[in-house]
Amino acid sequence: MRTVEFQEYGGPEVLRVTEAKVPDPGPGQVSIDVAYVGVNFADLKARSEGYRVPALPFVPGLEVSGRIRAVGPDVTGLRVGQEVTALTEGGAYAEVTVADAVTVFPLPDGIGLRTGAGLPTVLPTAYALLHTVGRIRPGETVLVQGAAGGVGTVLGQLAKAAGAGTVYGVVSGPAKAEYALGNGYDEVFVGSFTDEVRAATGGRGVDLALDPVGGETLRGSLASLAPFGRLVSFGNASSAEPWTVGQPELYPTGLSVSGFSILGLAKTAPAALRDIASRAFETVADGTVSLPVTAEFALEDAAEAHTLMGSRTSTGKLLLRVAGSQWS
Ligand SMILES: NC(=O)c1ccc[n+]([C@@H]2O[C@H](COP(=O)([O-])OP(=O)(O)OC[C@H]3O[C@@H](n4cnc5c(N)ncnc54)[C@H](OP(=O)(O)O)[C@@H]3O)[C@@H](O)[C@H]2O)c1
Repeated sequence: MRTVEFQEYGGPEVLRVTEAKVPDPGPGQVSIDVAYVGVNFADLKARSEGYRVPALPFVPGLEVSGRIRAVGPDVTGLRVGQEVTALTEGGAYAEVTVADAVTVFPLPDGIGLRTGAGLPTVLPTAYALLHTVGRIRPGETVLVQGAAGGVGTVLGQLAKAAGAGTVYGVVSGPAKAEYALGNGYDEVFVGSFTDEVRAATGGRGVDLALDPVGGETLRGSLASLAPFGRLVSFGNASSAEPWTVGQPELYPTGLSVSGFSILGLAKTAPAALRDIASRAFETVADGTVSLPVTAEFALEDAAEAHTLMGSRTSTGKLLLRVAGSQWS
């Protein structure tokens, strides 16, 4: 079977098409004939700096849609031929991949393989950030960094559906601002945002800030909180040094800082992840949320998808097509 792997860290050019043996599922796993693969920023971080890469060579990719090819021992409730969407621990840029059954979900009613490939990371992440970790209440104001990206596109819509008051986004360019305004955001700042958020909220700040960027941006998100505000860190797109927050920032106005990792949760509390995922997928099935696929590439053109996402001009969700066009 074909895979796309890298043997060294670097730019998109290190992604190479290779031939590999079709993997068999182990206990508690299934193998999947892949239709589409969702491209995540984490794939770029894996390729460029080894994020969650246990050893080289490495096949990136964290989410797929497709049909179950084989079911391993000790798996119940899944059958060969079933159409599913799955979260994987890497290995998804391939014609066949293996996933733990606990992170394999039957495609929700009315959702096709193409849309389904983009659901497993973005939807549960956005849902958990707002509800499980962020504990949003109706009327609260929200600030989202990376508002036009995969996660950001869903966060704007889900925040509104949760009854949020004003939802503010931050993006790196005007075209992205335009896009985010069509996805739930009330106001979108381009580049700088701390003074702008204070001005827009009459000096109060926001109740909930969601930050996938880290570094100075995370500091700015913290500085944008209202009294008793909550900041959830969920990424480090800026590749900044790990952050620390202490008494001087938190005590005076009673702030909280927390974090979230879907891959961490898949390992430590898979039942909690399944619960979050099922509620999150419902929001797509019932039309509350849409996740536009804005670009699709053949598997062997994965480097082009990485180049696009790395250019910071992409919006919504990017996909790799593996067997999808033959199936749909
Ligand atoms: N913790 C979790 O469970 C989890 C799950 C999924 C995703 N994430 C994180 O959420 C973020 C979005 O992921 P995605 O896959 O949906 O990607 P994406 O948003 O579609 O694309 C990457 C995003 O990162 C921003 N970005 C790119 N390079 C940057 C840089 N050098 N400095 C600052 N920002 C940069 C871009 O926003 P602008 O160009 O507008 O600034 C863009 O929105 C990533 O940081 C990812 O690691 C976390």
